[in-house]
Amino acid sequence: MHEDELLEAEAAHLRDLQVSITAVEADVDERTVEAALRPRSLDEVVGQARVRTQLGLVLEAARRRERPPDHVLLSGPPGLGKTTLAMIIAAEMGAPLRLTSGPAITHAGDLAAILSGLNHGDVLFVDELHRMSRPAEEMLYLAMEDFRVDVVIGKGPGATAIPLDIPPFTLVGATTRAGLLPGPLRDRFGFTGQLEFYEAAELDLIVHRSAGLLGLPLEADGAAEIASRSRGTPRVANRLLRRVRDYAQVRADGVITLEVARAALELYEVDELGLDRLDRAVLDALCVRFDGGPVGVSTLAVAVGEERETVEEVAEPFLVRRGFLARTPRGRVATPAAWAHLGLGTPSGSLGPGGDATLFED
Ligand SMILES: Nc1ncnc2c1ncn2[C@@H]1O[C@H](COP(=O)(O)OP(=O)(O)OP(=O)(O)O)[C@@H](O)[C@H]1O
Ligand SMILES: [Mg+2]
Repeated sequence: MHEDELLEAEAAHLRDLQVSITAVEADVDERTVEAALRPRSLDEVVGQARVRTQLGLVLEAARRRERPPDHVLLSGPPGLGKTTLAMIIAAEMGAPLRLTSGPAITHAGDLAAILSGLNHGDVLFVDELHRMSRPAEEMLYLAMEDFRVDVVIGKGPGATAIPLDIPPFTLVGATTRAGLLPGPLRDRFGFTGQLEFYEAAELDLIVHRSAGLLGLPLEADGAAEIASRSRGTPRVANRLLRRVRDYAQVRADGVITLEVARAALELYEVDELGLDRLDRAVLDALCVRFDGGPVGVSTLAVAVGEERETVEEVAEPFLVRRGFLARTPRGRVATPAAWAHLGLGTPSGSLGPGGDATLFED
């Protein structure tokens, strides 16, 4: 419901900007599909068994006490289900969900307005919590602990802070970078769910579930192929499924078979381990241009023409988890597996993997 409003607002905004309507509709369609595939209850969530059990208990206990649940922090790489879980928390509590994000709160006053508009039991979802401004963060500490905000009236020496009580609410924070949150903020969450990359078997279930919801004919080995190339990430699994569907509909008879999945994924440059263009560009720059490192992440980002955050938050977690890249205090280094995966043979020169010349500092 909220998603629809967002999509509609976004489409209207783009129409105002006179962006090509077909492009807009394609985009809206993709995002509508993503929204339609979101699990709506904890029971529908695939994988993340530990977080699901722990969170289920927090919610059940709160329901029995008839009190809003403790504040929840969800952390983990993009596309693993943080927003999905936030929506589920609100749904399971039968509470309205208010959505905002760290970067949207530029002044503490923005947050004060949001907090003072909350009703008893509301779930306030703050996405990208690590990107909130410092003054807003401090206001949030107080609100989380004492359910109070200090509204500052006036400016300079004459300014006064008027304390305002706010009804008990539940904050759900999401972050791809829990390490960047200040300790006092992290400590005020009663429960932290650290989302992990998914196993291939779990992604397989997700691909089957999504294909079922979209009414796509899917063979078991086609699903397994998509699952194994999804970077351990449900969002990627759903996206690859849609691309393979396109291929199946245009170049084949619509059925997603192993053959179709392989051909489509090759076309979209997703390799057998699920590495996409960016992943390979990062590894390639690291191995070839920087002789295996160590190299600072900013330098690496410039070399692949991406934002530092994208390299750090999107590409690296998966490369680290697959054992292709290591983060060391002096910079990023490629592992022997990275050289092998790129088909590069043994590292050349004096700066092989783990070599100790520091080329660039961050
Ligand atoms: N456990 C799951 N089971 C089934 N589908 C899932 C699961 N987790 C996520 N998905 C699917 O993956 C998509 C992405 O999930 P979501 O938007 O919650 O990720 P996120 O962690 O909030 O990502 P970001 O950090 O980019 O905001 C959802 O649309 C949903 O369909
Ligand atoms: Mg999200």
